[in-house]
Amino acid sequence: MRIILDTANLDDIRYFNEYFPIEGVTTNPTILSKEGGDIISHLKEIRAIIGEDKELHVQVMETEFDKIVEEAKAIVALLGNKKNTFVKIPATPVGLKACMALSKEGYGITVTAVLTAAQAMLASNAGAAYVAPYVSRLENICADGVGTVADIAELFSISGTDCQILAASFKTAKEVLDCAVVGCHTATIGSDVMHRLIQHTTTDTSIAGFEKDWKGAFGEKTILGMIKG
Ligand code: G3P
Repeated sequence: MRIILDTANLDDIRYFNEYFPIEGVTTNPTILSKEGGDIISHLKEIRAIIGEDKELHVQVMETEFDKIVEEAKAIVALLGNKKNTFVKIPATPVGLKACMALSKEGYGITVTAVLTAAQAMLASNAGAAYVAPYVSRLENICADGVGTVADIAELFSISGTDCQILAASFKTAKEVLDCAVVGCHTATIGSDVMHRLIQHTTTDTSIAGFEKDWKGAFGEKTILGMIKG
């Protein structure tokens, strides 16, 4: 499963872009509101950090068809091109209309705030590049977030659509893994959960044990030093 970073924090983006195999960055209005300030410069800075090849997803705020289309095109022109900049549009009737129009022109649309497999099916039929089901928001209302992702994966497999699942809204590392197991293509993950995907106390104690045993046998010598003589 491909991994994208779900934050607009520049320090976090620099860190994860350097150390983790992320394919890009997703934002939404709430995520951007946490950073504040000149959000246009901020988005351009995100593009500069991740480079031209990685994906940047930015959500429209307009709610009328013509304005959504205009805003979507402006976002892509500002931040890259149709291949690397994806426009997030919520799963509503006007969102589907905008998705159909923009995808016909070659824009990559991420239909977001998806809570059901039915919404995902419609988004796929409307030409979306991605659908973003909100896993934790479903789990938090006693619904089956991972099961919804599984249903979408099966539907997309049956239809053969090119539309990809971009699962979002994760609160636990287990939810991420569970989505991967049911065939989710891509997950966008916030900084906290991303850290938890790699951290393990037994990894740390194992490393400490290796260092202790090495030093007990070879002192301060290193493999590189031994190779170089
Ligand atoms: O980016 C959309 C999604 O990840 C929202 O997450 O944590 O606000 O439910 P959250």
